[in-house]
Amino acid sequence: MREERDVDLSVQDGSCSLEVVSQRASQTQRIGMALGGLLQAGDLILLDGQLGAGKTTFTQGLAKGMHVTDVVNSPTFTLLKEYMGSQSRDQKESAGAPLALYHFDLYRLDDPDEIVDLGFEDYFYGSGVCVVEWAGNADELWPADRLYIRLSTVDETKRRLLFVATGQRYCELLQQLQKNMYAITRS
Ligand SMILES: Nc1ncnc2c1ncn2[C@@H]1O[C@H](COP(=O)(O)OP(=O)(O)OP(=O)(O)O)[C@@H](O)[C@H]1O
Ligand SMILES: [Mg+2]
Repeated sequence: MREERDVDLSVQDGSCSLEVVSQRASQTQRIGMALGGLLQAGDLILLDGQLGAGKTTFTQGLAKGMHVTDVVNSPTFTLLKEYMGSQSRDQKESAGAPLALYHFDLYRLDDPDEIVDLGFEDYFYGSGVCVVEWAGNADELWPADRLYIRLSTVDETKRRLLFVATGQRYCELLQQLQKNMYAITRS
């Protein structure tokens, strides 16, 4: 069946990938929310895709999954916005513990060195969750282990989401996400 094929996880040389098609914005948010509920301190999520592909829409869901109560919108003019969320109640050891969300938007970044000059690099190895829109604008900065998500526009309401996880933590994360995915993409 098409839906089952859409949520197949493929594993290759230390990286895992998963492709799903979201039928509408609310579905993209739900996928983001499912991911947000699985995140831990130090996680790095890189987003790429054209203008209007759904990166911020996905991040809004992710923030909800992290129990962020503030409104999340694009931090285009500031490079970074910080939010306070908490660990998911499902993660028993740290349930409810505060967890910061650092939302970057690198659309207007002229030079990746700016990130280093501003001291932002510390965030990527820090104790919060980092989500980066337009991550491709600073490709050389990223640590080897991360979850990369490429969103592309299929038509007005459909978006293709390609998840590529590198390293053990992110492959496990993607495997956990995959378990929730079928229910979301069928709805
Ligand atoms: N399946 C879908 N998933 C996500 N967004 C969708 C979908 N279908 C329609 N949309 C619409 O597409 C737009 C996506 O905008 P959004 O700001 O999330 O994109 P973006 O990738 O962050 O763009 P930018 O590069 O300008 O920051 C929203 O208006 C949203 O409602
Ligand atoms: Mg955006």
